[in-house]
Amino acid sequence: MTQILITGGGGFIGARLARALLADAAARSAPLHLTLTDQYPLPHDLAAHPQVRGVIGPLADQGDLFASGFDQVYHLASAVSGECEADFELGLRSNLDGTRLLLEGLRRAGNGPRLVFSSSIAVYGPDPGLAMPDPVGDNSLPAPQTSYGTHKLMCEYLIADYTRKGYLDGRSARLMTVAVRPGKPNGAASSFFSGIIREPLAGQEAILPVDLDVAHPVASPTSTVASLMGLMAAPREALPRRLAINLPAVNVTVRQMLDALEKVAGPKVRARVRMQRDERIAAIVANWPRMASSETARQVLGFAGDASFEAIVRQYIDDMRASGMADTALRGLQD
Ligand SMILES: NC(=O)c1ccc[n+]([C@@H]2O[C@H](COP(=O)([O-])OP(=O)(O)OC[C@H]3O[C@@H](n4cnc5c(N)ncnc54)[C@H](O)[C@@H]3O)[C@@H](O)[C@H]2O)c1
Repeated sequence: MTQILITGGGGFIGARLARALLADAAARSAPLHLTLTDQYPLPHDLAAHPQVRGVIGPLADQGDLFASGFDQVYHLASAVSGECEADFELGLRSNLDGTRLLLEGLRRAGNGPRLVFSSSIAVYGPDPGLAMPDPVGDNSLPAPQTSYGTHKLMCEYLIADYTRKGYLDGRSARLMTVAVRPGKPNGAASSFFSGIIREPLAGQEAILPVDLDVAHPVASPTSTVASLMGLMAAPREALPRRLAINLPAVNVTVRQMLDALEKVAGPKVRARVRMQRDERIAAIVANWPRMASSETARQVLGFAGDASFEAIVRQYIDDMRASGMADTALRGLQD
């Protein structure tokens, strides 16, 4: 029986990862038990699943859980970038202290589990004395410009060191911005990348706060989950490095995103996106990578990533239909 822990298991990616792991184990008739920990209750399907145990509460309370002998751990729990900028101590507590507690628990357990950590392209940035490469690649020097990015980078290095010492077998993945995120805008400065697709499809107006030429690396939830699972499955010998790797990206401008939306859903849907520049958001986005390359993920590990942004839009529409949410999420397609 493989014992897997997902921190942040009730979140956007954590819940999708949990469902994908359960489906994969069922398809292979492989015995699996999942422990999902999150500060908020789990989605109903996961809470009710016989192979899932939910442990609800902050990371800070889970020291004994972390030491209880998991085979594999996906560490996804994290305060988001906007929260960390607004509340410096929350970021330190949640993203740095929480990770330290987890790593110490795994070390205490003594069974050397595999760990996949969700880092972020927020580790890259333009330091005042050093321009950001374009694209950013696995070997670009990280220079985070936010507390969130700084904590992610610190955790990457801690995980590499715990791995060097043989306490665990850690792998850090720098996730691209994951789109299209369903539900409501989440207050993150990157929220509009999903909003300009999601809201028009739902029949609502969306505000575009940046110029059409802004470029950004994105990935779908499905390819992100597949990459995280692939990274966990990769034998150590296949990984040339203990340092973090970029996950595959679709490098796309906002204009290309809207062109894809129009191609898939028509000009009326695209017309629901209104340009209203927001200097605050535009300034934040100007410090983000415009493009990313993913040499290790694609060439060494063979991760496919997404075919195109158009494929990402189509995937979102298919997901909404499959989850019975088409009536609201795709209302804008009916006019
Ligand atoms: N979604 C993206 O675009 C993106 C991009 C880059 C990196 N990431 C990283 O991927 C991971 C998952 O992202 P997501 O989009 O699913 O985020 P999410 O906010 O939907 O999920 C994170 C989960 O962690 C939980 N959590 C946060 N702090 C906690 C704490 N102190 N104790 C217990 N639970 C806590 C939250 O309740 C939430 O359910 C995060 O580490 C995030 O930083 C995401």
